[in-house]
Amino acid sequence: MFDQIADAVGTPAYVYDAGAIRTAYARLDAAFGDRPHAIHYALKANSSLALVRLLRSLGSGADANSIGEVEVALRCGCTPRDIVFTGVGKRADELARAVDLDLLAINVESPGELDRLARLAADRGAVARVALRVNPDIDARSHPHISTGLKSNKFGVPIDAAPALFREIAARPSLAAVGIHVHIGSQITALDPLERAAEAVVALATDLRAQGLPIEHLDFGGGLGIAYDGGTAPDPDEYVRRIVRAAKHTDLLLAIEPGRVLVGAAGVLLTRVVDVKQFPGAKRFVVLDAGMTELMRPALYDAFHRIEPVHPRPGAEVPVDIVGPICESTDTFARDRALPPVEVGDLVIVRDAGAYGAAMGSNYLRRLLPPEVLLDGEAWTVTRRRQTLDDMLALEV
Ligand SMILES: Cc1ncc(COP(=O)(O)O)c(C=O)c1O
Repeated sequence: MFDQIADAVGTPAYVYDAGAIRTAYARLDAAFGDRPHAIHYALKANSSLALVRLLRSLGSGADANSIGEVEVALRCGCTPRDIVFTGVGKRADELARAVDLDLLAINVESPGELDRLARLAADRGAVARVALRVNPDIDARSHPHISTGLKSNKFGVPIDAAPALFREIAARPSLAAVGIHVHIGSQITALDPLERAAEAVVALATDLRAQGLPIEHLDFGGGLGIAYDGGTAPDPDEYVRRIVRAAKHTDLLLAIEPGRVLVGAAGVLLTRVVDVKQFPGAKRFVVLDAGMTELMRPALYDAFHRIEPVHPRPGAEVPVDIVGPICESTDTFARDRALPPVEVGDLVIVRDAGAYGAAMGSNYLRRLLPPEVLLDGEAWTVTRRRQTLDDMLALEV
């Protein structure tokens, strides 16, 4: 299959498995049992139309982190009431569009944004549906670059500041409080921090109700990690069970915003070896035709991905540095990684690249965005063609 795909579309290319996405979605969904809930797929993980449409067909709504992602969610069949809009620095035009659409919730991140939104909605004669993003000061124990729930992070408002802000929302006719939102980080592999964040949000909701400040939903964000090393990943059922347990004394709608756990393990980056080099006494380098422009995670946060030849050659594994072709030292997928022998032209896959892979791709070095392919059983479809130089240059004079 990988050979056929590489022959048809070339390398590097992203290949996603629809079956794996369906399974991951069904598992999370079923874990809620009969508890009313909503799954808002976090488009930031991968907003390829084919994947968003697939998830939408399964019943998913959307968590958008920019107005571009809002528009993509709409084009993939979401209604405005299936979309929540998060983001630490929403521009006035983004807020205006969100208000005009009457999105399910605008997740507000600061008192200043709340004020700007209230004025903007009032000017338009509208009522903006607001969820307040609270920062519970909980350490997600993930990588520091993807932790968002500590006081020292730029996200949300301190949870103790929330009651006063909900009172302000109640006092402003152009705002309606619909929810509390929390998101403490990504690639979280310990369930305790996620559970504690959920408990903190539920306690706040209870407090608000006692003050006569009702809301509609609790949004626990995303963050559940996957096993990049192929070991055991946190159990999605247990994750949902803990959220449901934390919320058992409320009848509010429970929402989550999973990204990685839905699409991460469903994608591989298919690439080819373009060079192998070693000088006496020095490291052995395997150079791939994919690099940080296609998959930025290793360069950005030293992320680990399993990397395997599609057709392993016989012979002992040797430690190699697996690198991309880009003129940056951080363009390195793995250091001192045991790899079976490979030769120039061999196909190699980088596993678990479905989330924060294609979505973070760039045109650095005028490299072309790679094609994307969706596998479904034995069949596969090219869901994005390779960008051409003309596509790229069309924006320029
Ligand atoms: C607000 C928000 N929701 C959801 C997510 C999805 O997170 P993950 O892919 O870890 O599930 C993110 C990503 O960090 C986010 O910023």
